Amino acid sequence: MKTKKYTKITTHSLQEMKRNGEKIAMLTAYDYSFAKLLDSADIDIILVGDSASNVMAGHETTLPITLDEMIYHAKSVIKGINRCLVVVDLPFGSYQGNSKKALESSIRIMKESGAHAVKLEGGTEIEDSIKRIIDSGVPVMGHLGLTPQSIYKFGTYTVRAKEAEEIKKLKSDVIKLEKAGCFAVVLEKIPAKLAAEITKSVTIPIIGIGAGSKVDGQVLVMHDMLGMNMTFNPRFLRRYSNLSEIVNNAVSNYISDVKNNSFPNNDEQYE
Ligand code: KIV
Repeated sequence: MKTKKYTKITTHSLQEMKRNGEKIAMLTAYDYSFAKLLDSADIDIILVGDSASNVMAGHETTLPITLDEMIYHAKSVIKGINRCLVVVDLPFGSYQGNSKKALESSIRIMKESGAHAVKLEGGTEIEDSIKRIIDSGVPVMGHLGLTPQSIYKFGTYTVRAKEAEEIKKLKSDVIKLEKAGCFAVVLEKIPAKLAAEITKSVTIPIIGIGAGSKVDGQVLVMHDMLGMNMTFNPRFLRRYSNLSEIVNNAVSNYISDVKNNSFPNNDEQYE
């Protein structure tokens, strides 16, 4: 694998990374402090995902989060980064069924937050919106496979594209998104073999989540990979830390130090 040092990641760098066989690393973030940590570790893409609805606001689904709330998170993330590309999810209700609205929502995100690109869920049904947004100069990342904004249509969060008809639609949607000008596509929770085949069939990067290793890059929700929520255990998730235990220990130690009057000590107070 060739790796090139990038001082700034653009949509073009990502396509070059695909051509060079260099994997793309993407994580979600929703605030200034974590964005700064991720960027200084050289993450390639930060996604201000609408998963903020779950992990930041505590909603059960991604549906309730608003465009104003997404812009608030995106603004905070942008203040923390120097190098990575920042992609922001268009939330549910800000683009579906109306390409003018999709364009207006994208422009608000770009103007008010300073983000670099937007992400939309769906294929042929949102093709017009994608074209309109790209024509205005805003880069678009697609999202296919399991699309959580359609959870009430699917009924479950199980693996997508296992039956012939859905496989056919998924393959044709990826080609449509590439033709429409998307700079990359996220494929969520689909069989690894299918993801590998799709990845080979297009020139734009395919970023997988639960889509196996033969894609161009990976994305995870930061809270999940840092172990902030131990009750979410999908097969595709690898935990790189156990922050819930680390934070719990730190807070318990603090509480006991306060209760037994060992914090602050003489060195931690002013004369
Ligand atoms: O909102 C999100 O975090 C996402 C990722 C799971 C790809 O869309």
